Amino acid sequence: MKRRLSRRLFTTVSLLAACGGPVAQSPDGGGSPDKGQPVVSRALALSADGKELWVVNPDSDSVSVIDTASRSLVQEILLTGTRPTLDPTTMRYDPPVMPRALAIDDVVGKVYVTGEMSSQVYVLDETAKTVKTSFAVGAEPTAVVASPDGRTVYVVSHQAALVSKIDTATDQVVAMLSVQQFPWGASLRADGSALYVTHFLTQPAVTTIDTASFTVRSVSALADQPADPAGNTKIPNGKVRGAYAVVPRPDTGELWVPHLLLAVGTFQTPADPAPPSALQFDNTVFPTISRLPAGGGTTTSRVLFQPLGAVGFTGNFTDSCSGPRDVAFTPDGKLALLALGQSEDVMVFDATTGDEVQLVRPLSKGTNFASMLEGIVVDATGTTAYVSGRNSHNVAVLTIAQSAGGPNVQVADFVDTLMTDPMPTNLRQGQRLFYSANSADFPITQNFWVACSSCHLEGRSDAVTWIFEQGPRDTPSNVGGPINTGFLFRQATRNTVVQYDATIRKEQGGAFDRTDVAQLPQLQALSDYVNYAIPLPPNPNAPGSGGLTTAEAHGKTLFDASCGSCHAGPFFTDSGSGNPTLDFNGTVVLHDTSSIGLGTCVTTGPTPDVSAMDDNTPPDTRMPCDFDTPTLRGIFASPPYFHDGSAATLGDVVARLPQSKNLSASDQSDLVSYLQTL
Ligand code: HEC
Ligand code: HEC
Repeated sequence: MKRRLSRRLFTTVSLLAACGGPVAQSPDGGGSPDKGQPVVSRALALSADGKELWVVNPDSDSVSVIDTASRSLVQEILLTGTRPTLDPTTMRYDPPVMPRALAIDDVVGKVYVTGEMSSQVYVLDETAKTVKTSFAVGAEPTAVVASPDGRTVYVVSHQAALVSKIDTATDQVVAMLSVQQFPWGASLRADGSALYVTHFLTQPAVTTIDTASFTVRSVSALADQPADPAGNTKIPNGKVRGAYAVVPRPDTGELWVPHLLLAVGTFQTPADPAPPSALQFDNTVFPTISRLPAGGGTTTSRVLFQPLGAVGFTGNFTDSCSGPRDVAFTPDGKLALLALGQSEDVMVFDATTGDEVQLVRPLSKGTNFASMLEGIVVDATGTTAYVSGRNSHNVAVLTIAQSAGGPNVQVADFVDTLMTDPMPTNLRQGQRLFYSANSADFPITQNFWVACSSCHLEGRSDAVTWIFEQGPRDTPSNVGGPINTGFLFRQATRNTVVQYDATIRKEQGGAFDRTDVAQLPQLQALSDYVNYAIPLPPNPNAPGSGGLTTAEAHGKTLFDASCGSCHAGPFFTDSGSGNPTLDFNGTVVLHDTSSIGLGTCVTTGPTPDVSAMDDNTPPDTRMPCDFDTPTLRGIFASPPYFHDGSAATLGDVVARLPQSKNLSASDQSDLVSYLQTL
């Protein structure tokens, strides 16, 4: 293996000081230990007898059953009876179901699967391995757990911000509970008394729900990690994003929440408040695990990576890695195995000290490997772990040995989860490049550090505003693909995703170059994936069979009159109009945001260097206030808004735009209702 350029230490830092001191325990006594094995929503799960492993195949609309003894695929169950196909007209590959999580309810002999894109839950017969029924839940279900007594299933809907409670006797939704925005993962206390839900984007947190009363008991915010006061930007810091999972530790109930820290203020250190300064790949994003007391409560500690030699830090986490995705404990609670989606490896921790004890890298054997890791589970004997590779559509089987000399986790086998892969090869390759930071396999970054998906979580936005050389930049969402939305970047300085070789070099520290004939096909595959295979999220406000409501229809009339000139056509943008080949020497339609009254552009200091992030000939020049009209598709799901993220909600956007400022409050509200349907 290549020697790493820098080494990072792992340590546990108390955040109590940062949070203003200890906060009162949650009403259940907070720290009361949770005896037994918790239930966690995952992409894969073992049957109670450990004989079967069930895995979702998000890109194939299927669920696979693996026989754990023979390590072979028993059956692939198609959730709708058919495999997804590429749309020959749009060239898009959008699996209509996209199963993301499953829960095995051994008591009633059923398996519950969430269809992220269909907003349905599929109920499978555990023995017959057939789909019994399906029912609707809130938009974009991402997590599902079954209560230990088997009577209740809980489903988390990301876009609808809802938790649904399902009676497993009738498979009916019996109650719904609103939670704060953008929930994602879920788990249950071993005794079933509390349901934990993570919040993934804005307002990062863990919500604790009392299952008996089905009410929110507490919301534990996951605080920003403060920057190093001495100005060392390589020390982990930043905003919490991407909390995919919340996993209680067996017997203690302590909650482990793996997530990212996005150091968006990297260039605004106290000593250097005025960007630009050089963007470095290893001061932007950091992996971490927040640890909360049993029952919720305030974050007590965070498992942090630290540069070797940083003052005041000890520990033995010496490997850099990225994309913390899911964590699974051995049943004795001694070891924690962290699946890292982007660096494509598994890190093993002593769960008591929080210290790294082993890194399983590479996750490969012979020619087999696992990529885009989305889940990990450990069996009841604590001797085997299974890791799902979404992109490689397989499961890696790891053996776990614990001895006085320490643990020894080894890659034993790989089991393919598909009979046949319906996703076209170029899109699979592009998906890997988009989600990977495996710098041992290709020069997408250095040191396993950062992937496109570090900022474009799920291909979307991270809901933060980065301070780049070209000025403040809220990360745009790539849902539905930017292919028909004209020029790329807020100031229209790129015309194809192939040009993101510059992003790979500048932001990710990688070495892709589109003029290299060997690398161009890979960049083309990346471009195809971004353009044709990042789905539009299911919209909870989408018009039903009755069409737009009266308010929405009125909003549309206002929109067509006041906004449609720029947000024109089916993609709601005039970008690239009159210039179908997006030739930089032709017309590039931009709008002066200061003259349209936004006043959000940076006009002080040096003119932003827009040529820094690409290499067009002739070099691009843009006036600091000239912006490309963004598409409005899926706009409900990507706050904050404007290039500088200065509008938190669509209501704020409408209140600020000169075209709508003078509308009555009710007209503005109708306009917002319409925008939310797009
Ligand atoms: C450090 C965070 C970060 C990383 C890593 C990153 N992006 Fe972005 N991305 C952004 C931001 C911020 C912008 C807006 C930049 C601007 O407009 O000047 C952006 C813009 C884009 C756009 C333009 C969208 C539009 O509608 O104009 C695309 C496409 C895109 N990124 C794809 C990628 C790909 C592909 C990768 C990996 C090679 C990647 N990004 C890596 C943050 C990131
Ligand atoms: C003169 C052209 C023009 C008109 C008219 C216009 N917009 Fe825009 N719109 C833009 C531009 C340019 C931006 C990008 C501004 C920025 O990023 O700072 C934008 C940004 C937005 C955004 C934020 C998108 C995002 O992803 O951040 C929304 C929402 C929006 N406009 C809605 C509207 C509505 C609603 C109207 C009518 C009331 C309207 N716009 C009228 C050009 C226009």
